[in-house]
Amino acid sequence: MIELLELGWRGHRHLLSMDQFSRKDVEDILFFSRKLAPYSGEGAVFSYLMGRWLKPLFFETSTRTLDRHTSAIQTMGGGYNTPLNPENSTMNDKQEKEMDIVIDAAQSSDILAIRHPKSGSVSEFAKVIDNLKNNKARIISCGDGPNEHPTQTLLDFYTVMEGLGTLDSLIWLIVGDLEYGRTVHSLVKGITKFSNNMVVGFPVGGLQLPQQYRPDGYKEFDLAMLPKIIGNVDFNSKIVLYATRVQAEKIARKRDRLYDAYDKEAKQKIQSDIYQEFRYQITPGILDVAPHQTKLLHPLPRGDEISDEIFLSHDTKISPIKQMRYGIQVTMAYLALFSGLEERLHEPEKYLIKQPVRFKS
Ligand code: CP
Repeated sequence: MIELLELGWRGHRHLLSMDQFSRKDVEDILFFSRKLAPYSGEGAVFSYLMGRWLKPLFFETSTRTLDRHTSAIQTMGGGYNTPLNPENSTMNDKQEKEMDIVIDAAQSSDILAIRHPKSGSVSEFAKVIDNLKNNKARIISCGDGPNEHPTQTLLDFYTVMEGLGTLDSLIWLIVGDLEYGRTVHSLVKGITKFSNNMVVGFPVGGLQLPQQYRPDGYKEFDLAMLPKIIGNVDFNSKIVLYATRVQAEKIARKRDRLYDAYDKEAKQKIQSDIYQEFRYQITPGILDVAPHQTKLLHPLPRGDEISDEIFLSHDTKISPIKQMRYGIQVTMAYLALFSGLEERLHEPEKYLIKQPVRFKS
């Protein structure tokens, strides 16, 4: 008998913004992520997405987001088509329209994981896909310019839940490039779905959180105030210290419309100068005075804002490597949910076709 599966999840065909989710939606994605955690990255294979194809369409570079999508789809039993490489595609030497590349991917793939340097672009692609006849492709936004990166927020929230056990009554100290950092924009939208949270921004070099993303009660302080403020909060408070990279390439594009036409060397020089201009660092001293229930998160990639010493430390306050690890089960969960498989996710063992290989630690 042929089963009819829901197109998308709870009325959402595509995953485009944290705005689209209710608190319950977020909690359920995290619930199913936890259910799948014992099978992520351990050689397990499920039948959930057997015969389904994911197309990575990264019009902008990625390391983590691309990898976790290709790992997650394969663990769930599906496959992925060759990731788009804009440099080596028909976009480059035949000037094919980006839209046509997206439409083409929707013919051979069930899920399109799209990242693009322009705000709003991924939602525009989704509208075109919605209007195609007899097409059921879903789009997962992997970041649209400086606007949003909703799947990063889902894995950030998972990390906070694992570390602090709640997404309510937290103090969120968000540091770095709040203007162009899309992970910050999705994060603050997500935080507003939960209760009694305080959000405080510490922008570097005037890169403030734009008005449209500011939650109620939002406060912003000079970055120099961070050690004093974090050292003076109630010692029993639960703190998320969220550090971000300065988005040098986006700042460069804003300052110089010709930036994308420069050669690699010239671009690297411009970026290095911008990193130097906006340089900041979360020092061991800041973490020492922070309450014991503090978690330092960073969406990565990192620049100098977190030293190797802190990044590689086994201190329980330091979470960026955990964020990368947790990203796989979170991605497995939303790929299955947006493929209409919520009911089946309650019983992962039933759909396991290859047992995980357990290593002795
Ligand atoms: N956090 C994140 O989006 O990393 P990538 O740019 O490597 O995908």
